[in-house]
Parts: sequence; structure tokens; C-alpha cells
Amino acid sequence: MKINGTPYRTIWATADNQAVEIIDQTKLPHIFTTLRLDTMRDAERAIRDMQVRGAPLIGVTGAYGVALSMKHHASDAALKASCDMLLNARPTAVNLRWGIERMRAFLAPLPESERAAAAWQEAARIADEDVEINASIGRHGSEIIRALHQKKKATVNILTHCNAGWLATVDWGTALAPIYKAFDAGIPLHVWVDETRPRNQGASLTAWELGQHGVPHTVIADNTGGHLMQHGMVDMAIVGTDRVTARGDVCNKIGTYLKALAAFDNGVPFYVALPSPTIDWTLQDGVKEIPIEERAAEEVTHISGLCDDGQVRRVQLTPQGSRAANYGFDVTPARLVTGLITECGVVMQPDSRKLSALLKPA
Ligand code: MRU
Repeated sequence: MKINGTPYRTIWATADNQAVEIIDQTKLPHIFTTLRLDTMRDAERAIRDMQVRGAPLIGVTGAYGVALSMKHHASDAALKASCDMLLNARPTAVNLRWGIERMRAFLAPLPESERAAAAWQEAARIADEDVEINASIGRHGSEIIRALHQKKKATVNILTHCNAGWLATVDWGTALAPIYKAFDAGIPLHVWVDETRPRNQGASLTAWELGQHGVPHTVIADNTGGHLMQHGMVDMAIVGTDRVTARGDVCNKIGTYLKALAAFDNGVPFYVALPSPTIDWTLQDGVKEIPIEERAAEEVTHISGLCDDGQVRRVQLTPQGSRAANYGFDVTPARLVTGLITECGVVMQPDSRKLSALLKPA
């Protein structure tokens, strides 16, 4: 996608295959800056500190992290140590495990002398595949938006939560890919952007990337969606996900479940867009089985923003001494999901049988 007219991906290898560059997402929307990652520890830190975030991008960064570690030490012990360290960077998005395990399985049978070069090639393949997968999600999802527009014959209003746009992937995004494809095809649409406290990925990242692409959008406080749905102001919701179980339970940014409940109560179609590596075939019951990341209380008690003097500053919101809890994700049961939009097609009213028939690797 483009930033001020220049095409970008969120992550890329340097020309000499010695380092990786990323867009530092902790600085957006006020400052656009890129960062160079030279070591596996740099990649691990970038994931943990959310300079890169979003399930698919975390997976690709993990894969490049393995490639960065092979540059210095390519023994079996070094491969295991770097994979183990990267796996612990963030717990919920299963794409991290997927990307790292794919690298491990690819590199382990190779002689040590070949691993460094092969690792860069495999990480680049994973990144390229992510772009293709998301473009395909976009094509399938845009047909749903097109059908809504044909029925309504007016602007389609779509609600989204968190950031599942191109910043959360290598390019295109998951939940936003159908929106970009439909917008580019001339379908009139407007996006309600949940601010997504506490880190405000909606207000900071989704609003920024939609604005860069010229997509009409309105940022709303997180609790607004139910009211909009009651008044017929939302035609559909599309969100991304960090992990989907074999039966179709969906884990996504905290607050997604409440939007799904409101959508269900108001008969608003609730779609989840995902690449197949986001499915964790080892799990069934998402509420009981998916590990939910708990992050620092300061993300709740404090907030950063652009001050009138042009400086970005962090301020405290809560009284001194009040405790805060910061659960990063929640789980929406499959029964509340209208359809899963994947690169292979849309699974309506998802369940184990339908999901595995379309997507389970042989
Ligand atoms: O904590 P984050 O910002 O990594 O959470 C991101 C989300 O919850 C996204 O909706 C999800 O990863 C899907 S991204 C295509």
C-alpha cells in the first residue's frame, strides 16, 4: 500500500540480506519512521514492544528473526535457542508459532553451511505468500460488500475493531483487504473505526492507513458500536483475528466479543477475515484454551498523543494508586460469527467440519 504516494510493505530485507527494516508502528500516526533490525534479539524486541504487531506481521517478523539468528550461529543448538526465544515474544497470535515452526522445519534438515542463505529465502517466501493470501481474502470479502451494496443501493457502512489492515500484515491486511478491494472497485463505503483502547490501534493505525488510501472513515469511542447498530448505521462488521480454533472460535483484540454480541442482537452480519496460518488446529474451545496476553498496566493508566506544541507526550489518566488490568484479547464463540473470510473462500456459520473441509492441510 502507499504512504504519501510511495508503495511500502511493513517489513523488508535489506539488499545485502544482512538486516530487516520495519515501519515503527509505536510512532504512528504522528511520526512515520523505519527501523533496522540487525539481530534476532532486535526482532524479538520489536514484536514484544509492538513496533510490529498484528498476527500475520508478527509471524513474518518471527521468520525473519530466525534468519537474522542464522547469520551468526547456524548450529542445531542455535536454531533451537533462537526459535524458543522468539516464540516467547507474544503468546496469543498463533501466526508467530506458525512462522517460526515453518522456518525450523525448513532449516533443520539442511547442513549448517547452507542455513543462513536458505533462511533468508524462506522468510522472503513467507512474506510474499502473506501478500498473496491477503489479496485473495480481499477478493472474496469484497464480493460480500458488493452484494450488500447491490441490495442497499447506498453507501455500505462497515464497522471494524483494532487494526487488521496492511500494517498488521506484510501488505493489504485481512479485515481491511476486502474494504480496499471494494473501494478500489468503486463501491461506495464508509468505515466506523473503533478506537480500540488501551493502545488505540484503531484510532492510530486503522484511521491512518484508511486515510492514506482515501477511504471515508469515522473514528468512534469503543462503546459506540452497539448504539450505531441499534439505529441501522452499521451494515456489517469485519474484524481480524489472532487465533481461530478448529471449530471456529475467534480470538481477537479485547472488545471484539462485545461487538459480536451487539451485532448478533441487532442482526448485523459479523465477519472475521483470516489467513489459514491463523487457524490453530490443535484447539477447539477458544475461551478455555487460547492463552490471553496480559500486558503492562501502564497501557491502561497512561495515554500518548500529539500536544498543541507539536510534541508527542504521554500523560496519566487514572488516579495515583489505582490498579489497572490489561487483557489484550478476548474470544468470540463461533456461534456469533456470520462467516470467516479466508484466502480459499468464505466459511458461513463456521464449524469444525466446514473449516477442515476448506482449509485443513492434508
Ligand atoms: O495487539 P495487536 O495490535 O497485535 O492486536 C492485533 C489484532 O488484534 C488484530 O485484529 C489481529 O492481529 C488481526 S491482524 C490482521
